[in-house]
Amino acid sequence: MTRDPAAAGGIRIVTEVPGPRSRALAARRDAAGARGAARLTDVAVEHAHGAYVTDVDGNRLLDFAGGIGMLAVGHTPDGVVAALKAQAERLVHLCAIVGTYEPYVRLLERLVEIAPGAFPKKAVLLNSGAEALETAVKIARAHTGRQAIVVFEGGYHGRTNLTLGMTSKYGLFKKGFGPFASEIYRLPFPDLYRRPAGMSEAEYVELAVQALDKAMVAQVDPSAVAAFVIEPVQGEAGFLPVPPRFFARLREIADASGALLVADEVQSGMGRTGQLWAAPQLGVVPDLLTTAKSLGAGMPIAAVVGRAEVMDAAHPGGLGGTYSGNPLACVAALEAIDRIADEAFLARARAVGERLRAGLERLVASYPQAGEVRGLGPMLAVEFVKDERTKEPFPELVLEVTKQALKRGLIVIRAGLYSNCIRLLPPLNLTDAEVDEGLAVLHEAVAAALATLGLPEHAKEGTTSV
Ligand SMILES: Cc1ncc(COP(=O)(O)O)c(C=O)c1O
Repeated sequence: MTRDPAAAGGIRIVTEVPGPRSRALAARRDAAGARGAARLTDVAVEHAHGAYVTDVDGNRLLDFAGGIGMLAVGHTPDGVVAALKAQAERLVHLCAIVGTYEPYVRLLERLVEIAPGAFPKKAVLLNSGAEALETAVKIARAHTGRQAIVVFEGGYHGRTNLTLGMTSKYGLFKKGFGPFASEIYRLPFPDLYRRPAGMSEAEYVELAVQALDKAMVAQVDPSAVAAFVIEPVQGEAGFLPVPPRFFARLREIADASGALLVADEVQSGMGRTGQLWAAPQLGVVPDLLTTAKSLGAGMPIAAVVGRAEVMDAAHPGGLGGTYSGNPLACVAALEAIDRIADEAFLARARAVGERLRAGLERLVASYPQAGEVRGLGPMLAVEFVKDERTKEPFPELVLEVTKQALKRGLIVIRAGLYSNCIRLLPPLNLTDAEVDEGLAVLHEAVAAALATLGLPEHAKEGTTSV
C-alpha cells in the first residue's frame, strides 16, 4: 500500500512531531501537573475535526486513539457542536438533584430504548466510566443484599478506589494505592492467543469454564455474589472478546444463583464493535450495562442502564452527584446516540472494521513479531511478540511503533496486560482513504521500529531471536 503524503486533507507534517510548541506545552504541563496523570504522547492539539487533529505546530495528524475510544463519531461533529452551542445559551447547569430538564429525561429514555434486553429498563446518569462501574456495584449490592463482586484478569474498570480494586494490571494502575475494597474476587480470563500450545480454542474455553465452576466452590459461592462484572471485549487487556461459551456459562451461574451479570461496555459499547453493544453479539443479555466514552461524543457522561426492578433497588438519594447528567453532556450524548444508532452508521463502522482488519492481517503476514489481529468488528488490536512460538511479549517494539507512527503523523496507543498490543480506536465513520492512510503509516512505523531496534525487517518465513 502506498501513501500519498500530499493527498488533500490527509496527514500534513510541517515540523518534527512532536514539534517545538508541543514540547514546550508538555514541559509546562510537567512543571505544574502531577506526574501520576501521565500522557502517551507529547503532542499538544490546537483544534480537531473528524479523524484529524491539528497540533500547535501546525501539523495535521490522523487520530487513531480517538480520545481512547470516546470519539466514535469523530472530533467536533457538526451536529454535536451545534447542539452544545444551543444548549449553552439556554442552560449550562441546574443539577439533576435539584430539578429536571428535558435533555436529561430524553437521554434516560433513549438509553432505555437502545440498551439490550426485552424487559422494562431504567437508567442513571453519571460522569465517568469508573463512576458508572461504582454505581453498578452499589445497585447490584442493594438489589441482591450480597457483597461479593467477581471480576476477571485483564479487566479494567477505572481508577477510583473501588474500581481499582476491580481493575487488573497491578504495576501500572494499582501500585502503592492500596488497600483496596474487600469482597472482590478475580478469576482467570480465557485469553485464546495465550492458550497452551497444541490445545484447540474449544478445549481451552472448556478448561476455562471448568476453572470458573471450580472457583465458584474454591473462591466464592455464587449465592454470595452480587454481580459478575465483565467487559464483553476486554479493552485495556488488548481487545479480547469473551468466548461465547464462557460468557454463556457466566449467564447460567448468575441466573441459577440470583447474582447479576454486569456488562462493562464503557469501551466496547456505542458502536465500537460495529453494533451498538458487544454483549448481545456474544450471545448474552446483561442485567446491567455500563456505558461512557463514545456516549458523550467527547463530553464527560456515563450511564448504568438495565432491569428496572434492579435499578430501583438503590434508595432515593443513593445515586448520582452534582454534575451527573449535565445538560451539555446530555445534548452531546443525544446527538451521538442519534448518529451511532443509525444502521447506516453501524454498517459503515463494520466496513471500516473489515478494511482495517485486512490491513492488520497484512501486517501479521509480513512480520513474525506481529502475532495476532483480534477484536470484534472495528474494535481491533495487534499483539506483538518477540517469538511466534513462545509468544514472549514485545512491549519495547510496541512503544517504538507508537513513536514512529507519531513522527509520521498517526496517533496510535498501546494496550495489553503486557503493554504489547497496538489498539485502534479511530472514529467509526472513517473514509476508505483515511483507513488506508492510517494503515500505510502503521506499516511504515512497524518497519521503522524494527530497524530502530536493530531487527532485520524480513518476511514471515524465518524466526526471530531478540
Ligand atoms: C471497560 C472500561 N471500564 C471502565 C473504564 C473507566 O472509564 P473512565 O476512564 O471514564 O473512568 C474504562 C476506561 O478506559 C474502560 O475501558
